[in-house]
Amino acid sequence: MLLAPAARSWSAQPAEGATPAGQHAGAFASAAVAADHHLASEAGAEILRAGGNAVDAAVATSFALSVVRPYSCGIGGGGFMVIHLKDHPRHGTLTTALNYREQAPAGVSPDFYLALEPDAATHGGRGVAVPGTVAGLLHALEEFGSGMSRDAVLAPAIRLAEEGFTVDAHYAASAAEVIAWIRKDEPARSARFAFVWDRFLARGAIKPGDVIRLPEQAAALRLIAQRGRDGFYRGPVADAIVEAAAADGGVLTLADLASFRVARVDPLTLEFRGKTIHTMPPPSSGGLALAQTLAILDARLPDLRATPPRSPQAIHRVTEAAKHAFADRARWLGDPAFVDVPVARLLSPDYLRGLAATLLPDAVLPHERYGSIPAGEEGHAEPHRDGGTSHFSVVDAQGNAVACTETINLVFGSLRAAERFGFVLNNQMDDFATRPGLPNAFGLVQSARNAPAPGKRPLSSMTPLIALDPADHGRVVLVAGASGGPRIISSTLQAALNVLVHDMPAGDALAAPRFHHQWTPDVLLLEAGLADADGLVPALEAAGHRTRRSDAIGNVQIIRAARDGAGLDAACDPRKGGRPAGY
Ligand code: GLY
Repeated sequence: MLLAPAARSWSAQPAEGATPAGQHAGAFASAAVAADHHLASEAGAEILRAGGNAVDAAVATSFALSVVRPYSCGIGGGGFMVIHLKDHPRHGTLTTALNYREQAPAGVSPDFYLALEPDAATHGGRGVAVPGTVAGLLHALEEFGSGMSRDAVLAPAIRLAEEGFTVDAHYAASAAEVIAWIRKDEPARSARFAFVWDRFLARGAIKPGDVIRLPEQAAALRLIAQRGRDGFYRGPVADAIVEAAAADGGVLTLADLASFRVARVDPLTLEFRGKTIHTMPPPSSGGLALAQTLAILDARLPDLRATPPRSPQAIHRVTEAAKHAFADRARWLGDPAFVDVPVARLLSPDYLRGLAATLLPDAVLPHERYGSIPAGEEGHAEPHRDGGTSHFSVVDAQGNAVACTETINLVFGSLRAAERFGFVLNNQMDDFATRPGLPNAFGLVQSARNAPAPGKRPLSSMTPLIALDPADHGRVVLVAGASGGPRIISSTLQAALNVLVHDMPAGDALAAPRFHHQWTPDVLLLEAGLADADGLVPALEAAGHRTRRSDAIGNVQIIRAARDGAGLDAACDPRKGGRPAGY
């Protein structure tokens, strides 16, 4: 069995219940934002109250998250946004998606990492891919916003950066893992990652209640407000990014930054139990995995609603369906701008019916029987960790919606920062298959289709989704997504099943304990609420599952149409501590 490269060993998730009971959900008459930090939800709600639409609010929320969740996402990272517009003045009624996932610098090749130290893609300058968040947000604002100015949507984030925010339990727990890793090689690591060490980790002393101010990031945000895309991709911010990467061996150049492009794509669309779900196509694996899993469950389990969602039967069935999807993820997926990704074949009803037919009611299959196998592409992996990333959901009073998931990859990304501008640079290069056959930091083994190449985007698990009800004038019934590496797929899927099949209120849908299996390694992770449930583990083990108790599986933010049909029911994952806002 091959082991993961030596990397930070974070499972940075505090115990369940980070948000005081009852505060993680809220009912709103007209409009809501659910982000994984209440100040970011408030930033979006402020824009909604000022007359902005869901896209304006999403842009404000994302820039605010860059300040208050600096270890999860931000202007040094990238993301995906699924947008549903209702009667937009220019676009009418439309569902579309933006891909602003980071791109590999021109200086990398498929074998770039082979001769480097094993953690070259996870720590430091060589892990940094070209950030896409600023380009993506500005594209969204200009193309799909209501006409609000950059000044207006950036104002809340600039204010937060200047006034500061208070470190919460999730921040402190995430920081503790990084502090432990840095302390293993002092003073080399604290010197190499000085900005993160000094400003985000308080030289190892950071604790809940501390206040972090980021006037440097406020300066970057002001430049973006003044100059738009050029305020980030050219000039002093671009210089600071290149310097931070290059001083630590990175190959990112000013030309890479200047040539970053946002791709507008058709969402991946599926029908499930009478609802139309729009989600992200490759280079996200999340939408495809979600679509495959739901289709297998639909084909095989018309009685899903009658099966209690935390019963051994339900967990077994969902796990077995998801293992097929994760096996196909490992073998087939990559950036479709560079490699052939057989999306149509992987989603064809015949293929999925064939996979569904393999499901056994009370036993697992041999490992190789999941998904379908191109010759010669196989591997194994060891433990997977949870990482950074942040998801938020927005619905406005006009019925527009945004599902947005963004990331700098692992907690505090590459640990390198654009110091003069106070933001962390991603380590998204580790989401490529940087060393054939070896797992990345999430324990994911991936095929040569996901090898690095200039301009290519690494495969992702991010799964933003918007579900509409065609029987009710296309009304938005669910906006969802998650953070947590490959656990994103499992946690988004389970939250969606909790709402769309079991009709749970939003707060209950997120508080319910979760499980995760990513096919490789062959282990079924169970949150405490399942691992401790009477008789559950023996029942699953009897069916052939190797179970393991797990820390938090994903952090999900959802907004659903209220069950009585009036208004919105929003919730933020109690595992991370967010609170929704709106009116
Ligand atoms: N960096 C995590 C993901 O995109 O899946």
